[in-house]
Amino acid sequence: MDRTVNILAFAGSLRKASYNKALLRAAAELVPSGATLEIFDLEGIPPFNQDLESQPAEKVKEFKAKIKAADAVLIATPEYNYSIPGVLKNAIDCASRPYGDNAFAHKPVAIMGASPGMIGTARAQYHLRQCFVFLSCAALSQPEVIVAHAHEKIDEAGNVTDQKTRDKIKELLEALVAWTNRLKEA
Ligand SMILES: Cc1cc2nc3c(=O)[nH]c(=O)nc-3n(C[C@H](O)[C@H](O)[C@H](O)COP(=O)(O)O)c2cc1C
Repeated sequence: MDRTVNILAFAGSLRKASYNKALLRAAAELVPSGATLEIFDLEGIPPFNQDLESQPAEKVKEFKAKIKAADAVLIATPEYNYSIPGVLKNAIDCASRPYGDNAFAHKPVAIMGASPGMIGTARAQYHLRQCFVFLSCAALSQPEVIVAHAHEKIDEAGNVTDQKTRDKIKELLEALVAWTNRLKEA
């Protein structure tokens, strides 16, 4: 029998008016029954320094503990220079170390992303998928949630107003919950 799927969600942006944070807030509203969604803010995660990886900052300890406790992870990534923002890569690096203590190991993970441009983070999402290979994550392939022209779909108050985008986010959450339950059974 399916148990509640607890999803930890974070955005690769620190910006207050972030479109990607807006996607996460919409996801919190659209989470299916049988699942919960908690949003974690990456603000305060220090730059990774391998010399200090055995004594992580409190914020890194908290981030790792929340990932480990979650049944699944949802990431909303911006696209910076055709890739993922340094803030997101740094957070992932911190949570994957020290060697042998990768918080993401075997975690079901789903991605979405929003950008004002016409490619809507597709390039960044594929770079993020490459990280999941080494992280040993069970990345969900479909549906892809690639939100182009984000300024036309998210209003100034940070609400996702475009119905098709909301439907896609819902579809992604439903797929993530089903995927997580399938992996639990395996
Ligand atoms: C350093 C930097 C690089 C960017 N590079 C890209 C890019 O490669 N592709 C793109 O679509 N948008 C690019 N943008 C624009 C971002 O998509 C835009 O700032 C977006 O709002 C960031 O996501 P957020 O709203 O969640 O903070 C870039 C923005 C910054 C600050």
